[in-house]
Amino acid sequence: MVKQAIIPLAGLGTRMLPLSKAFPKELWPLGSNSILEKILDECFEAGIQEVIFVISKKKNSIKKHFLKDRSLEKKIKNKPDIFAKIKKLNQLSKKIKFVYQNNPKGLGHAVLCAKKAIKSKYFLLLLPDDIIIKKNCTKELISLHKKNNSSVIALRKVMKKEVSRYGIVGLNNSNHKIKQMIEKPSLKKAPSQYAIIGRYLLNKSIFQYLEKQQKGKLGEIQITDAMNAMLINENFFGCKFKGKYLDCGTINGYINSFIEINKS
Ligand code: G1P
Repeated sequence: MVKQAIIPLAGLGTRMLPLSKAFPKELWPLGSNSILEKILDECFEAGIQEVIFVISKKKNSIKKHFLKDRSLEKKIKNKPDIFAKIKKLNQLSKKIKFVYQNNPKGLGHAVLCAKKAIKSKYFLLLLPDDIIIKKNCTKELISLHKKNNSSVIALRKVMKKEVSRYGIVGLNNSNHKIKQMIEKPSLKKAPSQYAIIGRYLLNKSIFQYLEKQQKGKLGEIQITDAMNAMLINENFFGCKFKGKYLDCGTINGYINSFIEINKS
């Protein structure tokens, strides 16, 4: 069973600067919840029991947000709506563990920082830049994993001009088995227009590959490179998920996501 999820939160949020300088983008509102709570809802609804937040000292406000605060519950007892939200947050806090990544060396390195906390053979990785609504993408990944007993990643067809912003895969179109993964390729080098979206269900053998992984695109340790090395020895499947994708990784994307969430 897949019981644990990693959420990397130590990044500097450079695409959102200066707005993200003092207030982490993951805590920005999406409707009446934060981006991060939206991701947590997806996890817990899919049966995940523990979530590991990878943060840095600069992002301690995330820890503060999820810190259990019973005194707050007492103060707002006569406001039922807010009381329910604070109570839910307090309950969530029991299921969250924190690990630190104090040098931003890339997504692959962030995942490696959580290695010791991962207990079972498979775990989930969710990136808060990517919000998926209308269908629970984590559930879709888990059911594909059960069918194939392998690692699975969520895929979305992107426009040609977007290819160089994502990890791009080459895949077998009939069974969705992944053949190749390249981080942020040029359009010329991209094996397809299928992009890796921030939902991964990974065998913990990924840690062995991450430990050996050299710096890649942007001078960072890239999870895409480690997964590409893993492909030689293990099956990997793509999941063209059914929900609606919202991009919270850029200012314009965030504004559109906010509008979209308020419509739904
Ligand atoms: C990361 C991954 C990339 C993936 C993307 C999805 O990139 O490295 O492979 O396609 O998330 O949002 P980042 O957004 O950190 O540049």
